[in-house]
Amino acid sequence: MTQDELKQKVAQAALKYIKDVSIIGVGTGSTTNYFIEFLADYRNQIEGACSSSEGTSERLRKVGIPVLDLNAVGTLEVYVDGADEISPHKHLIKGGGAALTREKIIAAASKKFVCIADGSKCVDVLGAFPLPIEVIPMARSYVAREIVKLGGQPVWRENCVTDNHNHIIDVHNLNIVDPIKLEQIINNITGVVAVGLFAMRPADVVLVSKGEEVVTL
Ligand code: 5RP
Repeated sequence: MTQDELKQKVAQAALKYIKDVSIIGVGTGSTTNYFIEFLADYRNQIEGACSSSEGTSERLRKVGIPVLDLNAVGTLEVYVDGADEISPHKHLIKGGGAALTREKIIAAASKKFVCIADGSKCVDVLGAFPLPIEVIPMARSYVAREIVKLGGQPVWRENCVTDNHNHIIDVHNLNIVDPIKLEQIINNITGVVAVGLFAMRPADVVLVSKGEEVVTL
């Protein structure tokens, strides 16, 4: 199976988590895009979705699913999203698509976070995928210097402006043995909007496609 076929397969498997759910949190990325395609068949059963990016909002509207304001909706039953890396503890690195802040907000506001990914995303220790950090533009260099003190190698994702009009720094060379602690430390750097470590609020369920199989962690 190709990687795209694996993404499609795992996206379809997530549909069982949206039964009887009227408002769904929807993430960002190529795996989630397949989920949105499948969600289209449920458009008459659901009231709408809370979206983690402008790109996802556009796709949802295109398939006829209303995009709702999270402030008006309150707690969500389910949030479905992909990941860039997944640890055995269901800690994640996210933000490859620069949507990490809104993704984190929706994850925080959801009762159940269902993470969908192909098997290539599973690792023993997080950090081979460069860790994205969304920063206030004027703080970019300051945050980068603080990251160097932590042993990381920060690289500015040039030509990338987030939906919140901020910048992204990708941190290379991290071996993240204590993701919760690192998330707290990076959260505390002035100028950081959000770090793409999802450890304090990990996924609740991880669905991983491996060949013909979809495994639930
Ligand atoms: C976007 C994300 C995505 O979930 C992550 O990058 C995975 O994307 P894909 O499904 O395309 O592999 O965090 O900010």
